[in-house]
Amino acid sequence: MKIAIISDIHANTLALEAVLNQINSLKVDKIFCLGDILMAGYDPNGTAKIILELGNLEIIQGNTDKMVACFSQELLEKAKNKFPCMGYALEDDLKIVDEKYKKFVKNLPENKYIEINGLKIQLVHGSPRKQDENIYPNTPTEEIEKMVENSSANLIFCGHTHLPCGYSLESGKTVVNVGSIGRSMTQDKMPCWAMLEINDNGTFQIEHKTVKYDNKKVSEIIKSRNFKHSDDLAKMYV
Ligand SMILES: [Fe+2]
Repeated sequence: MKIAIISDIHANTLALEAVLNQINSLKVDKIFCLGDILMAGYDPNGTAKIILELGNLEIIQGNTDKMVACFSQELLEKAKNKFPCMGYALEDDLKIVDEKYKKFVKNLPENKYIEINGLKIQLVHGSPRKQDENIYPNTPTEEIEKMVENSSANLIFCGHTHLPCGYSLESGKTVVNVGSIGRSMTQDKMPCWAMLEINDNGTFQIEHKTVKYDNKKVSEIIKSRNFKHSDDLAKMYV
């Protein structure tokens, strides 16, 4: 069975379409999405519509989905102080995101267990411990062991940092950060996702995949949204 795991789309329809074309050409059986579909991009409604129309999808909520869905003035001010371009993007997003998509992300679970051929998989956004916890390529394995100690899965998929990486831990657990579709922080800024292939006996292989898309165009569109600090957000795409 072939499963594509995607995360952190951040309202980037062009990047999502490029990845879905690639996924379709590889004939996958299922798609898992690890959240952050709406906030701080250019097309939250278009992105959400595509995601909702996907068949064979398992999806969980990301921390920024929660920010859009459970918005408060206090949360907005905090976001503006901590990371200005994200805070102002959120403020602008709230003017355009359709209520039905806010409701959709509000009702998503924070994590999900799925068992296939005896392989127990957990989907999380940040870590099994916390929705906005970071698992980076240089996070010490002892720390990651603590983050996953209460997970009963053999294989854990996460996103959130926008940087792909993977760990085979001493505890026997495998942890894979799939990277980001919509605002990849890799050197080339291209969308990154993971292909999981599960054999009949439960053994598996995982491979990170990437695809090219017009990131310069997306950067220009985001700059033209013209909210405060939109130029800073635009720079993150190129
Ligand atoms: Fe994200």
